[in-house]
Amino acid sequence: MSDDSSAGASGLAALRGASPRDAATMVWRKFVHRRVEMGRYGVPTAESDGPVEPCELTLDVWGPDRFDEIVGTNPHLDADDVRDFRAQRSQVIVVLDGDRVAASSWMTGGRVFVHELQRHLEVPEGEHFSCRTYVDPDYRGLSLMRHMIHTYSQRQPTGDEVWGLVYDWNVASVRSLERIGWRRSGDYWTTWWFGRQQGGERRYPARPATTI
Ligand SMILES: CC(C)(COP(=O)(O)OP(=O)(O)OC[C@H]1O[C@@H](n2cnc3c(N)ncnc32)[C@H](O)[C@@H]1OP(=O)(O)O)[C@@H](O)C(=O)NCCC(=O)NCCS
Repeated sequence: MSDDSSAGASGLAALRGASPRDAATMVWRKFVHRRVEMGRYGVPTAESDGPVEPCELTLDVWGPDRFDEIVGTNPHLDADDVRDFRAQRSQVIVVLDGDRVAASSWMTGGRVFVHELQRHLEVPEGEHFSCRTYVDPDYRGLSLMRHMIHTYSQRQPTGDEVWGLVYDWNVASVRSLERIGWRRSGDYWTTWWFGRQQGGERRYPARPATTI
């Protein structure tokens, strides 16, 4: 994450280069109204359905003593995020090609800060919140997201649930998850009206898969 001053400077630069219509949209979204919505997908650990093809690379699960090694291997993760993971109940699943981190995926619980929604969620014992999955572009197409999340799920007690939040547009993620048995069972959102933030959620019975 960038600090406020650099974020403000890049925002202004973007505004200067935008067409009047785009500039109006940016100002509207920044100062008037914005809504972020994500689907809740999950699976009971006992129902996680692994990929058929084996993973040729080394898969491991690391604790907090190795979290810093992930910084720099995922462009969507920085030292502040790792600090948050340390403050929560977290582990990181890694795929290694020799010494190189080819992919990583975080599992966390407790009072979890969800960056996309800009608010905290409570993830109780027995639930594992999956987030910040990243596969290096050199290693995409090998089902590494499926391998990481399924391997982790298999190691958790029967009766636990692994779940996470995904944007509708992220078809690669939705498809990866639906192929290992995850189903949509809710929506989470945050809205901003004139700077006032409000969060909400709705839960429903698991829906059929849409991408497989
Ligand atoms: C999402 C991500 C982790 C998936 O990586 P991966 O495990 O290598 O996934 P794959 O490339 O094997 O793709 C998974 C499936 O989605 C399909 N897919 C990939 N991109 C797609 C797209 N743009 N549209 C439709 N389907 C797509 C693949 O064909 C594959 O289908 P298959 O089940 O038939 O094999 C990776 O794209 C990534 O790191 N993205 C950026 C970060 C991100 O979005 N993280 C997830 C947050 S929830």
